[in-house]
Amino acid sequence: MRPLPTGKPAMPIHLLPDHLINQIAAGEVVERPASVLKEVLENAMDAGSTAVEVQLEQGGVRRIRVADDGCGIPKDELPLALERHATSKITSLDDLERVGTMGFRGEALAAIAAVSRMSITSRADGAPHAWRIDADPRELAPAALNHGSVVDVADLYFNTPARRKFLKSEGTEFAHCDDVFRRIALARPDVGLQLSHNGRVSQRLPSGTREARVRALLGDDFLAAARSVEAESGLLRLHGFASLPAYSRSNRDAQFFYVNGRFVRDKLVTHAIREAYADILHGSRHPAYVLFLELDPFGVDVNVHPAKIEVRFRDSRAVHQFVYHALQRTLAASGAGAGLAAGSGESTESPAPAPAPQASPYPHTPQPYQSRLAMEPASRAYYDFAAAARPEPIAGGPAPAREDGFVATAFAPRAASPLTPPVAAPALPASDLAPPLGYALAQLHGVYILAQNEGGLILVDMHAAHERILYERLKTLLDGTPGVQRLLIPAVFGVGQKDMLTAEEHSELLERMGFEVGPAGPQELAVRSVPALLASAPVSELVRALLAELRDFPSTEVITARRNELLATMACHGAVRANRSLTLPEMNALLREMEATERADQCNHGRPTWTALSMADLDRLFLRGR
Ligand SMILES: Nc1ncnc2c1ncn2[C@@H]1O[C@H](COP(=O)(O)OP(=O)(O)O)[C@@H](O)[C@H]1O
Ligand SMILES: [Mg+2]
Repeated sequence: MRPLPTGKPAMPIHLLPDHLINQIAAGEVVERPASVLKEVLENAMDAGSTAVEVQLEQGGVRRIRVADDGCGIPKDELPLALERHATSKITSLDDLERVGTMGFRGEALAAIAAVSRMSITSRADGAPHAWRIDADPRELAPAALNHGSVVDVADLYFNTPARRKFLKSEGTEFAHCDDVFRRIALARPDVGLQLSHNGRVSQRLPSGTREARVRALLGDDFLAAARSVEAESGLLRLHGFASLPAYSRSNRDAQFFYVNGRFVRDKLVTHAIREAYADILHGSRHPAYVLFLELDPFGVDVNVHPAKIEVRFRDSRAVHQFVYHALQRTLAASGAGAGLAAGSGESTESPAPAPAPQASPYPHTPQPYQSRLAMEPASRAYYDFAAAARPEPIAGGPAPAREDGFVATAFAPRAASPLTPPVAAPALPASDLAPPLGYALAQLHGVYILAQNEGGLILVDMHAAHERILYERLKTLLDGTPGVQRLLIPAVFGVGQKDMLTAEEHSELLERMGFEVGPAGPQELAVRSVPALLASAPVSELVRALLAELRDFPSTEVITARRNELLATMACHGAVRANRSLTLPEMNALLREMEATERADQCNHGRPTWTALSMADLDRLFLRGR
């Protein structure tokens, strides 16, 4: 006998008994009650069930019982079902490569049976009665059951106390089971499902449409704030629902992604989705989505992990690009202009299933009293402004810098500054079709702009909207050489030691962005130039915020990759602040810029920037016409 390194004599090589092999395998497949539930539920789905009932006791540790109305298992196959590597789902490698069922490894039931007290009662289609098999001792007996199968798993880990110790509280284990249940339920709206825990029903989901299932599990709020996604390209299809940033979460709980019906957590896909949201969602917020990717089974390997939660795509780049673009386009299509175009039929995206909060301000049936006449005074004021503005800038030169950070030039006619992109002054419309966001009426408490369009009232959060516009424009400007505004008098302000060091370390990068920053004293910085777009932002505040952010980045590569975060900071500090009063022409200019900006209806932090109250909405408020 060879000695082990510990000095103990080694045993001769021998085959492990089946039961022990199964117990070892159970370590991979059966991590906790939720993993048992996943396997057993998936078997019920694979069996073609239309109604499935799940009963749990004590978080699933005491009992997991799943009853289905699927095809059942014939008597003589029942003992096989409990054997390792016994499956009815594949017979060859070819099958494995195009597998369409959830299961195929034929090891789940054997593993579960090895670490619990398990029985299966089943009645195969056409059998005169049901049969029941107990896993240990393995015994078959006639039983009563109308159809389908009942898999009963009791006392999980009763014979492997070491594993039992790893189980968490009943509440935690139940929460994991609930997660599994929801994941499968979202994927299979065609199957009626019920879940109960300790005798109390916690979910009752009738079979129905995908939308109804999503509504039942994620709520009306989610659907109201979600876009429906539908995209196809070659052999790839992505469909489902993705939240607009206004519905973002502080965690990833509401993220469901499926590949050919299988819930997965895949790094590649998660990355593609995060990128699609990068521009409209603050980094610390998480989008909510239920998305289904369908592709040829040949294109994806699901046999990477026993629990099959990871997959491997054959052409991962194509998948990444497809998911990113499909989602990004859907989300961008919610921009103020695009949203309005949806009614004209030129949008290729499917409409949101429920009216989003920022629904189209163009109602399909304008109310008779909302005549063109009513639009007249507001539009007249705007045309007057536009006409007057054309020959020369309203401010008669570069806008003076303002304490409050309002960039008047950003709204003023383009000729005002050689640094702003040459957007023509708004043309007078030939017809009397009003612009989508209408004409400004007034400013409310220094925070909101009230405007009137054909449909009714438009409310705009002016800071959020301006921030959004600035951000988009900063992005395009920084792609080339930034327009730089030299300050007549350098802005000098006191900073801490750390800021001094950061400014020195990143001076080159700052310069590339248009900031000329240098020391003015041991604890003082002088800013001599800023990006033209931010010409009138509060300089010290802006630069301090940038330095703080730069300090958080570990390296220059990271800064390049996360450049957009810097732009967002700049936009936030450059945007007009609350309590700054705007003139009507300034407000109208902002509305026009919003219409011209992609994704203008959400600010960089994911809040909506505007909303509409149609005449019908207002009538409802006043109970008119009832
Ligand atoms: N609820 C069920 N209804 C019908 N057949 C089932 C059910 N559960 C399991 N089976 C049968 O038992 C076999 C073994 O199941 P399992 O160990 O989970 O392996 P796999 O699902 O990978 O095939 C399945 O292939 C299937 O034929
Ligand atoms: Mg299975």
